[in-house]
Amino acid sequence: MKIIKSDYFNYKNNKLFCEDVSVQQLAEKYGTPLYIYSHNFFKDRYHEFTNAFSSIDHQIFYAVKSNFNLSVIKTFIDEGSGADVNSEGELYRALKAGAKKDKLILTGVGKTAEEIRKGLNLDLLMIKAESEEEIHLINKIAEEMGVISRVAIRVNPDVDAQTHPYISTGLAENKFGVDRETALRLYSKQKELKNITYTGIDMHIGSQITNVEPFLEAVKKLSKVFFDVKKIGVELKHFDLGGGIGASYNDEMVFSVKEYANELIPELKKLNCKILFEPGRFLTANGGILVTKVLYNKVNTGKNFIVVDSAINDILRPSFYKAYHHIQPVELTSNKDITADIVGPICETGDFFARSREISQSESGSYLALLSAGSYGMVMSSNYNARRRPAEILVDGNNYKVIRSRETFEHLIYDEIID
Ligand code: LLP
Repeated sequence: MKIIKSDYFNYKNNKLFCEDVSVQQLAEKYGTPLYIYSHNFFKDRYHEFTNAFSSIDHQIFYAVKSNFNLSVIKTFIDEGSGADVNSEGELYRALKAGAKKDKLILTGVGKTAEEIRKGLNLDLLMIKAESEEEIHLINKIAEEMGVISRVAIRVNPDVDAQTHPYISTGLAENKFGVDRETALRLYSKQKELKNITYTGIDMHIGSQITNVEPFLEAVKKLSKVFFDVKKIGVELKHFDLGGGIGASYNDEMVFSVKEYANELIPELKKLNCKILFEPGRFLTANGGILVTKVLYNKVNTGKNFIVVDSAINDILRPSFYKAYHHIQPVELTSNKDITADIVGPICETGDFFARSREISQSESGSYLALLSAGSYGMVMSSNYNARRRPAEILVDGNNYKVIRSRETFEHLIYDEIID
């Protein structure tokens, strides 16, 4: 079977380490399922991104939705990142993690009046509006509060990001943003909207995008809107490219952020304004693993199954998007390879992590690592089957800390009432 290694998750004497900490020892001490993250991966990725754009005025706003653990958000904030939040809950988390209001962006296709009010109260950097009705609501609430709201319009550039349809967001048929003509019309209303000042233009065309072309196409389309807006007398200060850069899930080649920067910088320089980015997956995916224990091996009519103690409630991606996550043993053995379905304990056939996967025979009690679990893993977890959510650990060199403890049974019934 293929074994994937990196500078952050590597084998020493056939045992998997996260940086300098043994994964097996963490699993034995804290139990499984267990999320383990590499602090240095997060930091290095952040600097790789920001360094690639050092020749232009820019700011990264970490997309909190990809991994909203407070310590993870704080890691990026400490390196200089802002935060892109998609709900008042994410706003709450970002503030708790230390985000500064002038480095916060409020996103979302369906913000409530309450969320808009919270954003205005905080005077955060900007609210990204996604419809005409929302713009009028922001203007009305700002008027009631006696403030001026900084607003960017999310424009749907109608490009095909060539990714999973559930996470493609920049096609005309998708629910996100407004089309280019509508955007221009809305920007031209600046004078009537007394409590809004347009400060930016925004796009986010999808996630897990594996080539630069759609980004370039979208930037070119939005640049045209940017200059048309300038012609009608509205000077925008920000151009926001959103997130979307794909991560490698099976050691495959994905474009580097340097290539992304090299392709985009010539276009972005023409704009002569500050460039904003909202990466999530690029910063977190390969900085995390989910460790699970093998419970049983079984053969059903000639087909192998490895039943593990983690399930789709812990990580939904394989089942929900048919996403590939590489799975490999925490301790390498000389066992022969088999082809097996790797499945969880939940009472659904959809509870699988891999189907017909080549993996070395893994005895009951041994540990497996599901890779690239740093993004959209824990954040999409649930309590289905009344399963307690896993613990999360952040490793830094040979130190580590538990950044979220495993849920207790009390957590499961915490807000319920029984007569
Ligand atoms: N900005 C906005 C407005 C977004 O909606 C998203 C992600 C991002 C930034 C960050 O995108 P990234 O750099 O992570 O691609 N649950 C799915 C991914 C959903 C992405 C939603 N929006 C998955 O597991 O693949």
